[in-house]
Amino acid sequence: GKSGYDHYMCKEINEQPRAIRNCLRGRISEIDASVSIDEIGDLARPERIQFVGCGTSYHASRYAARLFRRRGIPATAFYASEYDAGAVPVNEETLVVGVTQSGETADTLSAIRDANRCGAETLAVTNVVGSSASRETDHVMYIRAGPEISVAATKTFASQQVALLLLASTLAGDYSRSLVEALRALPDQIQSILDGSRASEITDVYARSDAYFFIGRGYGASVALEGALKLKEVTYKHAEGFPGGELKHGPLALVGDRTPVFAIVTGESATGKMLSNIKEVEARDAPVIAVTDSPSAVESIVDHVLRIPETHEQLTPILANVQLQLVAYWLAHRLGRSIDKPRNLAKSVTVE
Ligand code: M6R
Repeated sequence: GKSGYDHYMCKEINEQPRAIRNCLRGRISEIDASVSIDEIGDLARPERIQFVGCGTSYHASRYAARLFRRRGIPATAFYASEYDAGAVPVNEETLVVGVTQSGETADTLSAIRDANRCGAETLAVTNVVGSSASRETDHVMYIRAGPEISVAATKTFASQQVALLLLASTLAGDYSRSLVEALRALPDQIQSILDGSRASEITDVYARSDAYFFIGRGYGASVALEGALKLKEVTYKHAEGFPGGELKHGPLALVGDRTPVFAIVTGESATGKMLSNIKEVEARDAPVIAVTDSPSAVESIVDHVLRIPETHEQLTPILANVQLQLVAYWLAHRLGRSIDKPRNLAKSVTVE
């Protein structure tokens, strides 16, 4: 059941600390800060890596591709429905990773089959033991989030991100103590966001807005895409997420006082340019809500702050996303939506 929560979505958001502890169990060493994933012990560092996924799993794929590139392994994320295995260099040195919570998404399975046909090594990163994806790939890594009932993917996204970060560290053979310590602290940090978030009251102020925009850069870009997807899925309101740099290339035309902008302000690389993006939207009277680990950098220029604890840069998207999950949930709640079963959507999309 819902264990006292009004909706599975809320229950599952609150289950994230536990889901992440499960995902980490036995995979990070207390002794030498090394990372190991038993199920894929025989997988070697690939020459290149391609991720395929849909919806939220595509956003996790984008995050993962950046993690691998940062570790010197060429990596690309594809929408599974757009994957073109014949046209990209795919051979036995290529690892193709199907990221799919359910393991049953038709587009993702089809991309995995294409990759298999082209001779790639394939890996499924999934939540469901024995799922089609787990059976049709050479290797499988489980994210161990526990069953997710709500159509909106929440805890499985957090667990996918953690699993993919472990995968990147393992395959690249780069173990940093600061990263492992940050991973270990992550469940408690998520708990502190869940306990103290002001998402509900801030969201109330903007319940009648025309549209909601989400901007982020670098590791924050996939969070921006995910924040918008979650919000539109459960609230039925228009939402768009894009990299902050894209603002001036079109979306800015829509920005005004009835379009709040959620800005992910984390990580050194993003901060300076993100502050310029914030000023651009404010000049068009848009209210700005910053999701940030450095409130002092933005407090004086934004309308509201959704704070996240400080962590390793590569974990900031996981924490920032929790605040945006709460934004989507509380707005849908306030609007009286059918949160766990949004209209027109299915938990697992088994047709292409
Ligand atoms: O089971 P999968 O991870 O393959 O599902 C992919 C998408 O259908 C899924 O993430 C969808 O976008 C969610 N409903 C988003 O909350």
